[in-house]
Amino acid sequence: MASRVAGSDSFKHFEFDATLKHLSDSSSSSLKSVPSKFNFTNERTAFTSDSLPIIDFSALVAGDPHQRSKAVHDLATACRDWGFFILVNHGVPESLMESMFKAVKEFFNLADSEKKQYEAKSASDPIKCGNFNVANTSNQSFTLWRDYLKLYVHPTFHCPHKPQLLRDVVQEYTQITRKLALELVEAVCEALELNQRRYVDEILKMESSFQMFVTNYYPRCPQPDQAIGIPQHTDPGMFTFLVHNGVAGLQIEHDGKWFNADSPQNSILVNAADQLEIFTNGRCKSVKHRAVVNEEKDRISIVVANGPSGEAVIGPAEALVEKDGGAKYYAMKYEEYVESQLTKSRFDGKSLLEQQIIFSTN
Ligand code: OGA
Ligand code: NI
Repeated sequence: MASRVAGSDSFKHFEFDATLKHLSDSSSSSLKSVPSKFNFTNERTAFTSDSLPIIDFSALVAGDPHQRSKAVHDLATACRDWGFFILVNHGVPESLMESMFKAVKEFFNLADSEKKQYEAKSASDPIKCGNFNVANTSNQSFTLWRDYLKLYVHPTFHCPHKPQLLRDVVQEYTQITRKLALELVEAVCEALELNQRRYVDEILKMESSFQMFVTNYYPRCPQPDQAIGIPQHTDPGMFTFLVHNGVAGLQIEHDGKWFNADSPQNSILVNAADQLEIFTNGRCKSVKHRAVVNEEKDRISIVVANGPSGEAVIGPAEALVEKDGGAKYYAMKYEEYVESQLTKSRFDGKSLLEQQIIFSTN
């Protein structure tokens, strides 16, 4: 039952009688091809690189100024060259990561009739789950090969009450990742010689960071080149954090080519997001990425989008604008940016970030 996507402000597309979890459980042996409503032909071959930057968080917060300044420099280089890096020694307990995967699996395993209460009524609902339709270039709608749960967790915490475990682990994990994100933003400011009190506290208002928790469930797929988990996009916010259940699927754009972004399971894969690119006047890159699916294994990812405050108006830092002789991006209130990205149903046209660009040097 594919629905037509009416325009850029359309938002709907939750078909609880057919979540992917339900579909793949009920027809696991018989599902030999992708049902037509998911049809999105894609070329998913990608290069493998062993040079994705690694950032050691413990060095970033080390008392030793030498270690710290090297880590700050490495971070700025990673944000410039790849827009992605692997964060190690981040201090998130392994047991918490394990509990989190257990909890999100329990959520996806709930009966569709229970999940239905979290069906989104509008794009800005603080709790929503289901699957998602987007439009392709010919404005035909197709459904992503992915079930998801998305929660606004800060400054106000929202989470389903069931399963019990989910609430506790989401709260604990997002609190830790907020601290990590703050440290990363401060380190970028240090690398760019930006006054931290002015920018981190007064402009970005990181203390009241608008933070979102998303978990994606991508069941194994009988024809992985005929469906996609998430088409290419960039993320809103300052830094996105991603962990996964050990199954590959994330690909990132680098030098005009697609690369597999495999990260060790206990590390956190971090990417610079749109507001970091805007704020740094293009020094940090919010890089396009996508999630492809595979024939053998179910994949689960847990993603935290760490934003500035929803109230913050984010444009290029004035100290950098002065240096560069102009702002390369328009400014916009963060909560409005998130809202317009949520209601955008096309993945293939100009991204919201591209629409914000005033001029580009490359
Ligand atoms: C996202 C995203 C990729 C993945 O949720 O924004 O890019 O591998 N997810 O799940
Ligand atoms: Ni993303």
